[in-house]
Amino acid sequence: MESPAATNPSSRFDVENVPTNYTFPEKDRPGELPPVCHTLPVIDLGKALDAETVNLIFKASQEFGFFQVINHGVSEKILGDTTDVLKEFFASPEKEGSNSCGKSNWVYDGSVNFDVNGVHLWRENLKHPCNPLEECMQQWPHHPTRYRDVVSTYLTEVGKLGKRILDLICQGLGLEKGYFDGFSGVELLSANSYPPCPDPSLTLGILRHYDPSLITILYQGDVPGLQIMKDGTWITVGAMSNAFVVNIGNQLEIISNGILKSVEHRVVNSSEARLSIAAFINPSPSYIVEPAQALVTELNPARFKPKSYKEFVYSSGALGTHTKTLQRE
Ligand code: OGA
Ligand code: NI
Repeated sequence: MESPAATNPSSRFDVENVPTNYTFPEKDRPGELPPVCHTLPVIDLGKALDAETVNLIFKASQEFGFFQVINHGVSEKILGDTTDVLKEFFASPEKEGSNSCGKSNWVYDGSVNFDVNGVHLWRENLKHPCNPLEECMQQWPHHPTRYRDVVSTYLTEVGKLGKRILDLICQGLGLEKGYFDGFSGVELLSANSYPPCPDPSLTLGILRHYDPSLITILYQGDVPGLQIMKDGTWITVGAMSNAFVVNIGNQLEIISNGILKSVEHRVVNSSEARLSIAAFINPSPSYIVEPAQALVTELNPARFKPKSYKEFVYSSGALGTHTKTLQRE
């Protein structure tokens, strides 16, 4: 007989032990979780953005492919409202149904059908497009009723932050001013709700992957769970409640001709509920992703073939499962 958890999707994760269909094979399990890494750079964007800031971001993007930013200009109120509205979304029964109604552009995935070699991820996910914002938001969830207002405000602010960060990266790479101006909006929002897990050593929230974006701006609140690969081991990114985690995606690795690194990462679960909000900054589908001319020299020839962004992102399948399909010349 099926357990109540299997028939009622909302209580699926409300269990005392991890069910076998959420237990990863031993080789893929996170096991004992490593302590939080204190060497991942935290960059203060509240002070004058001088050569030192440019250098800190550049070094972090080479060494870790990741960094955190504080005093970034997105207010605590906007962060709090967005977190609340997403928590309400994941707690409401409406999340289950509305994909089927024709006028929506969002996808809810409750890890019911999605599985990896027969094992489910310990998470729920909501994804939707965000560009152009005014147009896309008409088809976003309308439960809770303030969802569209709150999330569009959040994305506008995160888009501005993305632009500032890309400007600093542009300076670090020595590219002409405004190089990234054409593509600094948030293209896709992916929000994750990771329910409290009775044994996080057995489960995974997201499998190891690379982001196919230009950059990703992640808000993870105050519960850690994101791990990044550094020198062959997983390190845990500390959670700072008012910080964003920024990472270099596959496209920026290509445009920088391999100078900046797109680094593999994954999500482990926690005994506490965790919410994360990933905003992916991408170019438009017709954009050709290739090394910037200024970074191709005799000593450092082009390391990647040009590829249209569309081909690039969609060739590996769904937007949610990403391997590093960088094609080197
Ligand atoms: C992602 C991702 C990290 C997290 O959505 O691509 O890596 O902490 N998310 O949820
Ligand atoms: Ni990711």
